[in-house]
Amino acid sequence: MLIALSVGGSILAKDLSTEGFLAYAGMLKELSKEHKLIVVVGGGVAARDYIRTARNLGANEAESDYIGISITRLNAQLLITALGEDAYPVPPLDYKEAQRALSSGKIVVMGGVIPGQTTDAVTAIVAEYIKADLIVIATSVDGVYSADPKKDPNAIKYETLTPKELVKIVISTEMKAGSQSPVDLLAVKIIERSNIKTIVMHGADPMKVADVIMQENMGSMPSKKIPLGTRIVG
Ligand code: UTP
Repeated sequence: MLIALSVGGSILAKDLSTEGFLAYAGMLKELSKEHKLIVVVGGGVAARDYIRTARNLGANEAESDYIGISITRLNAQLLITALGEDAYPVPPLDYKEAQRALSSGKIVVMGGVIPGQTTDAVTAIVAEYIKADLIVIATSVDGVYSADPKKDPNAIKYETLTPKELVKIVISTEMKAGSQSPVDLLAVKIIERSNIKTIVMHGADPMKVADVIMQENMGSMPSKKIPLGTRIVG
């Protein structure tokens, strides 16, 4: 399969631990024996810290976004270093370059691309551009909920959603002050129009990400043992 994997910075670059990068790199090397991979890395807490200070210094939103993009690319570069020979050596700067990089046969790792979006949107757009079979969004929540599970004890996790249903949920979440949906609206709109099967799941344990991808590849029924997150299927 051709897979576009989004790994949140809050997952991969948490504390910038060497072990965290090596664990993801090990899992990606194994997966790449069977699948073509493009990995999009987020900025995490460092990006938020840099953006906050940039704003305090008077940067506008687009300028702040460029600073966030730089951090995502630094995180991507660290993952490339951890992957060594198995990775394309630099993060592609745009979608066309990402497609060319994939033809090297190596794992491609990239960060942000242009202001006004997040790396979830980068993942959805690059997936559409390269005609990926599967999008996996490995983030800091274990799926898409009807409400914020930290605030609402009655929030339920969806096992399966259509892209249209996901768009509705994301719009209603983003309308509520202070709420943040696990996938940004632009990403969801791209997923809707490209109709690429997508899984939103917790990314803390890279082996679980690999398990879910392998299960998806075999087309087997979801096993109760594997935390599945939410599957978006048209
Ligand atoms: P992230 O994708 O990490 O944003 O990009 P996030 O929502 O904070 O994601 P998590 O929490 O790590 O999962 C960091 C910042 O970089 C800029 C945006 O400012 C974003 O908030 N960015 C990223 C862009 O402007 N364009 C891009 O293509 C990517």
